[in-house]
Amino acid sequence: MQYRTLGKTGLRVSVLGFGCGTVGGLLIRADPRTRVRAVARAVEAGINYFDTASMYGDGQSEEHLGQVLRELKPAVYVGTKVRLRPEEFGDIRGAVQRSVEASLQRLGMEQVDVIQLHNHIVPRRTPGPETAAALTTAEVLEEVVTAFRQLQADSKVRFYGITGLGDTTAVQEVMASTLFHTVQVCYNLLNPSAGHPVPAGFPSQNYQLLIDQATAHGMGSIGIRLLAAGALSGEETRHPIAVPSVAPIGSGPAYRTDVERARALAFLVQNGYASSLVEAGLRFAWNKGNLSTALVGCSSLEHLEQAITAEARGALPDGALQQLNSIWAQFTAA
Ligand SMILES: NC(=O)c1ccc[n+]([C@@H]2O[C@H](COP(=O)([O-])OP(=O)(O)OC[C@H]3O[C@@H](n4cnc5c(N)ncnc54)[C@H](OP(=O)(O)O)[C@@H]3O)[C@@H](O)[C@H]2O)c1
Repeated sequence: MQYRTLGKTGLRVSVLGFGCGTVGGLLIRADPRTRVRAVARAVEAGINYFDTASMYGDGQSEEHLGQVLRELKPAVYVGTKVRLRPEEFGDIRGAVQRSVEASLQRLGMEQVDVIQLHNHIVPRRTPGPETAAALTTAEVLEEVVTAFRQLQADSKVRFYGITGLGDTTAVQEVMASTLFHTVQVCYNLLNPSAGHPVPAGFPSQNYQLLIDQATAHGMGSIGIRLLAAGALSGEETRHPIAVPSVAPIGSGPAYRTDVERARALAFLVQNGYASSLVEAGLRFAWNKGNLSTALVGCSSLEHLEQAITAEARGALPDGALQQLNSIWAQFTAA
């Protein structure tokens, strides 16, 4: 397992991180024995970063992760998140404090390594549902950061970060403040814009090289949705324990569109760059040398094993990247 530094936190994190989210749901819906086996195998392979959130499985992800970590006692880092509900926006500091206290209780821990804001970030909330659940840059820079600092002073969190979703310019503004230690970045073969320039008219949100901006601001970057929630398997059918349907983040308008676009990437396997599209999707993350860690969501122990094998194979060869540029241009033309 390779390790990289998570920005100014100084933590050395495995380049493959364990996503305890709801999409694959291994830590939420698998039976207790499988959950223990999954974490034990991850730790054995050298994975030392586990990403959870208060909202994953309505607290179950944190609860289950805490149970397993108490049983195995591995030396790993845990990051969790706080997602504020619109009715809490009147008391952001209090709501952050309460959410983190509840997370620590579910995890059975006195401190987490990283707390991250889960809400999207926008310049301002506009009438209508689109931005109703998002926080504004001002709220993040004034309220959220103050709450996170207090939690750090109280030794409940070591470091704090944001999720780089919402309005890219607003996210950039928060990053440029250099107040946060980490950012979660959506990055995959269907939308590489957080790490590669994309042609004008690219049919997905342009994340404008957020990974490089994170590096410039000394922030650690945590890749999410490496497999576009599973669309990069090229199959629409979901694993029995996965969420039955999932909305894309930053890629196509629908999961089906993502699966169709993923088929255009079949050359990665046909030309021998990788043994499967999933392997290619994961290895693509490691071509980005300044992405601190890449999370994968798994529905089974086999998925985890395949991710571990992909990490051992390392980044994709340069030839694959060159061909990818012309595929991304085709996405634009389509
Ligand atoms: N901050 C945020 O807002 C945010 C948002 C999203 C994710 N995250 C974090 O990032 C982590 C990863 O994201 P994610 O789980 O949403 O998406 P993901 O990692 O892109 O996709 C996970 C899905 O990929 C498929 N998969 C994984 N390994 C596979 C394999 N070997 N073969 C075939 N299919 C495979 C599975 O689909 P099937 O189950 O259908 O087989 C699995 O459910 C999450 O767990 C979470 O920790 C954070």
